[in-house]
Amino acid sequence: MKAFILDKFKDSALRFGEMPEPVLRDDDVLVEIHAAGLNLLDSKIRSGEFKPILPYRPPFILGHDLAGTVVRVGSKVRQFRPGDQIYARPRDGRVGTFAEFIAVNEADVALKTKNLTMEEAASIPLVGLTAWQVLVETARLKKGQKVLIHAGSGGVGTFAIQLAKHLGATVATTTSTANVELVKSLGADVVVDYKKQDFEKILSGYDVVLNSLDSDTLQKSLSVLKPGGKLISISGPPDPDFARDQGLNWFLRQVLRLLSLGIRRKAKRRRISYSFLFMRANGAQLSEITSLIETGIIRPVMDRVFPFEATNDALAYIEAGRSKGKVVVKVR
Ligand SMILES: NC(=O)c1ccc[n+]([C@@H]2O[C@H](COP(=O)([O-])OP(=O)(O)OC[C@H]3O[C@@H](n4cnc5c(N)ncnc54)[C@H](OP(=O)(O)O)[C@@H]3O)[C@@H](O)[C@H]2O)c1
Repeated sequence: MKAFILDKFKDSALRFGEMPEPVLRDDDVLVEIHAAGLNLLDSKIRSGEFKPILPYRPPFILGHDLAGTVVRVGSKVRQFRPGDQIYARPRDGRVGTFAEFIAVNEADVALKTKNLTMEEAASIPLVGLTAWQVLVETARLKKGQKVLIHAGSGGVGTFAIQLAKHLGATVATTTSTANVELVKSLGADVVVDYKKQDFEKILSGYDVVLNSLDSDTLQKSLSVLKPGGKLISISGPPDPDFARDQGLNWFLRQVLRLLSLGIRRKAKRRRISYSFLFMRANGAQLSEITSLIETGIIRPVMDRVFPFEATNDALAYIEAGRSKGKVVVKVR
């Protein structure tokens, strides 16, 4: 099958070549991929940044999001049949959606939302699950609470704003002038234009902050939160709980402990909890997301669809850091 392959970490481009069709395990579905979503995680893995945490060995296929059709199922698969239209974020260690086919554990898969195209559906899983795991699972965001979602116009931000509004929260977000109308249309109540304003001078008394930006933004976010508030970062630094959950060795656990020591101490002094979240594949949560999309509560925000052959251009596009919502490649 045709695929985009990483031959060596730090390579500037993926190679468009032939790979063997995936081997189907008993609890896998074999999916003919129609569209694949792009994420900065693809770029970070390519650069080698995740080497200690996600031990991929080149050559392998990149890509974390897909929508497609089930063509075959393993002997133990119960939830899906050939012909089902599905979408998924395959679990770590088994990614590779920049390809014509992939075998995915059925626990990572959900039926595709009927009201979305394949391209739209492929834009959802990784960012949708991230927003869900931050706001629902970790923050337990409730009606009437206040949440700051950084980078509201990005892939995670556009989804998280809509989910937080659905949960009944008051939502503040940061974005640049050009995207103010977009984030308002998604439901943001307070929009801070970072080109003109400093969020930390405007916002206070928040229950939750979702950080997806740099360490400076992370530090400043502390002053937005009230005592008892939660600072949840998806862009680092990783904390000891994450190191434990990943089963990292003693040395790496100490490194991660030190990396997050500063922010954890500062947070503790203000009675704020700090946690790092690294999203996980989860077909059951993705099914809940499907319902929210089918009932019109959440809509995908698409920036661009590239042809499959232009996957390297699509990666370069998201790496420029200006995408509004999601970028997807159309595989067939
Ligand atoms: N830990 C996890 O599980 C996890 C999961 C998903 C994502 N992530 C990470 O989270 C980060 C965001 O991911 P993403 O997919 O949402 O990224 P993205 O879609 O590429 O984000 C692009 C958006 O960021 C906005 N932006 C850039 N600088 C900003 C600033 N200073 N203030 C406010 N907005 C700013 C841009 O808006 P403007 O053009 O208006 O500046 C643009 O719309 C990445 O580092 C990604 O790797 C982690």
